[in-house]
Amino acid sequence: MHGDAARVRDDVLPEPVQTEAPRPAEMPDYLEHAYWWAYLRPGAVRFFDRPWLVNLILYGNYFRLRDAALAELPKGASQKTLQVACVYGDFTEQLRAHLGPDATLDVVDVAPIQLENTRRKMGGSGSAAFHLQDSARLSFAPAHFDNVIVFFLLHEQPDAVRRATIDEALRVTRPGGKTIFVDYHRPSRWNPFRYFAGLVFWLLEPFASDFWARDISAQADADLHGFEIKKQRYFGGLYQKTVFSRPGPKQGAPTSPHRSC
Ligand SMILES: C[S@@+](CC[C@H](N)C(=O)[O-])C[C@H]1O[C@@H](n2cnc3c(N)ncnc32)[C@H](O)[C@@H]1O
Repeated sequence: MHGDAARVRDDVLPEPVQTEAPRPAEMPDYLEHAYWWAYLRPGAVRFFDRPWLVNLILYGNYFRLRDAALAELPKGASQKTLQVACVYGDFTEQLRAHLGPDATLDVVDVAPIQLENTRRKMGGSGSAAFHLQDSARLSFAPAHFDNVIVFFLLHEQPDAVRRATIDEALRVTRPGGKTIFVDYHRPSRWNPFRYFAGLVFWLLEPFASDFWARDISAQADADLHGFEIKKQRYFGGLYQKTVFSRPGPKQGAPTSPHRSC
């Protein structure tokens, strides 16, 4: 594991992307205890990393949610994008293809095996930079990225880590840029998947019920003054895309956070 970590860190971009030298990213306890079977073993990566399987786990919604996330980014633009945490399936490849040839893509994960896997899927390091970092304490400079995408990470994190992840994702997004969260959402009572997903959460996802009990904006400690927050629900409310648009210099900041669904 140590050797893997050293190799991955070789890809960390030089200054001024980072405010300081990369701090060692320790494996969080919750990941080791609750999700070792999904992310940290070679057999798990081999088993789960198939788009059709990810689609099955998301009840047929993977491609739709992936495309909903990508639709927030201007196609072909020369922007700086950060993906916080690796994703099984073809998410990062599609994201790279969506961005312009001059755009940069940075990918962060706390698990070396996941970074290596994503780098392999991308055909090497040329098309993206890979960083061994904890989402709860990113070492990028404030406002460094035009767009930050967090795809199905928050529901897997305990409250304190989740709060820090949200705050960090917002912190590194520039004024005028977007922070895009796609994740579970508590559906309405009539949605039968509410009960099925609840059972899966009880068995396998110890932090997910706590996550979907509140809006993402209610789980941030950051000052959301002036942010435009748009939430869109999918599949009877079981999933959400919540986009935080950070007020830019020319946008003019509203006096209070504006929420719409
Ligand atoms: C994005 S989430 C779940 C994605 C989705 N379920 C899928 O199909 O892959 C999984 C990733 O989050 C990473 N992860 C979990 N906690 C993290 C943290 N604190 N910092 C960075 N990455 C983290 C895991 O190592 C794993 O690669």
